[in-house]
Amino acid sequence: MSDRVYVFDTTLRDGEQSPGVHLDMAQKLTIGHALVDLGVDILEAGFPISSPGDFESVNTLSKELKGVTICGLTRARAKDIEVAAEALQPAERPRIHTGLGVSKNHLEHKLRMTEDEGLETGVKAVKLARSLVNDVEYFMEDSGRAERDYVYRVVEAVIAAGATVINVPDTTGFSTPQEYRDLIQGIIENVPNSDKAVFSCHCHNDLGMATANCLAGVRGGARQVEVTINGIGERAGNTALEEVVMALNVRQDYYACTTRIQTQKLLEVSRMVSEMTGMVVQRNKAVVGANAYAHSSGIHQDGVLKERSTYEIIDPTLVGALRSEIVLTARSGRHGLKHRLFQLGYEFPSERFETIYEAFLKVADQKSEVDDEDLRQLVSVR
Ligand code: KIV
Ligand code: ZN
Repeated sequence: MSDRVYVFDTTLRDGEQSPGVHLDMAQKLTIGHALVDLGVDILEAGFPISSPGDFESVNTLSKELKGVTICGLTRARAKDIEVAAEALQPAERPRIHTGLGVSKNHLEHKLRMTEDEGLETGVKAVKLARSLVNDVEYFMEDSGRAERDYVYRVVEAVIAAGATVINVPDTTGFSTPQEYRDLIQGIIENVPNSDKAVFSCHCHNDLGMATANCLAGVRGGARQVEVTINGIGERAGNTALEEVVMALNVRQDYYACTTRIQTQKLLEVSRMVSEMTGMVVQRNKAVVGANAYAHSSGIHQDGVLKERSTYEIIDPTLVGALRSEIVLTARSGRHGLKHRLFQLGYEFPSERFETIYEAFLKVADQKSEVDDEDLRQLVSVR
C-alpha cells in the first residue's frame, strides 16, 4: 500500500455549510488559490445543483485553478450528476462526488428505500457519472452507523460500476477511533475488488473525535482524508486539515505516511479562512490557535528557554509561525522575565533584577498578561 495520503479539501463545500457562513465568488477564488498553493490534491468546490451560486463556484474554480482535481458534489440523481458534469466541464481534472445513505436510519427515514433500492440507485448514479467523467467518488452517507455487510455489498457494487474513490463518511460523528479504523480495514479486507479504489475518511466532530477518527482510518488503510481549514463545517464541524497533516508529519514514525501539503503556509491559510468566514479560531486550537506555541508558566518557560523540545512537539516555523512565545503572567518565573527583558534590550545586576521581579509579580496578580509596555514602566521605576 502506498504511503501517500491524498488531501481532499472541502472547506468550500462542507465547510461553507457551517451555520452563519457565506462566501462570495471572489472570496472562494482567493481561498481556492490559497488551497492550491498549500498543496491540496482535490478541492471540493460546491454542490452545483443546489444553487446558481454553487454552480458558478464549481464552474469558475474549474476554469481558474490548475494542477488540482476539482470536485462537485451530487445526490445520486441523474439531473444532479448532469449539472455537476456541466459545471466541471472546464476543469483540468474533474471529479464527480455522488452517493447516498447506507445506514438503516437514513434508508428508512430519509431516503424511504430498501437496501436493494439504495444499492441500485447508487450503481446507476456511478454508471452515469462515469459516462461523463473518468474520476468518480462514491459517498456512503452515515457509514458510521450502518450495517457492515450492507456497506461491503455497496462498496463492491459501486466499484464494479466504475467508482474510483470510496468515501466512508462518519456523517454524524458517532464512531470511536477503533470502530472507524475497523470499518475501513474491514472494507479493504472483505470486499473482493477493494484494490481497485482508494478509500477516504470523512469524519464529523460531534463528539470531538473527528481528527482521531480520520487518523485511525488512515491506520486502517484509507489513503484520502476529507478535511476543512480550521475544521469548519456542519454542526461541530469537519476534520481539521491542519491537525491531520501535522499529526502525519510529526508522527511520521507511527503513521509512515506523507502528504503534499506545504505546512509552512498553514497558519496564513487558517487566518485567511477565519477572517473570510467570520469563524473565530479558539486560542487553544491545535496547530493554528494563538496559544499553540505560547508558554506561560515558569516551569514550562524555563524548559523551553533551555531547549524548545521540552514542551513543544511542533517547531512553530513549520506551520509558518515566527517563533515560540513566552507570555508573562503571574505563573511566570525569573527565567521568562529575564529573557523578555533581554529581548527588549534590558539587563540588570541581580539585586536590581530581584526588585523588578517582585514588582512584576504584583502587576501580574492584577492582569492576565504583563505586556511590554508594563515592563517598560516597571524598569523605569527606581
Ligand atoms: O458528512 C457527509 O456524509 C457528507 C457527504 C455528503 C459526503 O458530507
Ligand atoms: Zn460531511
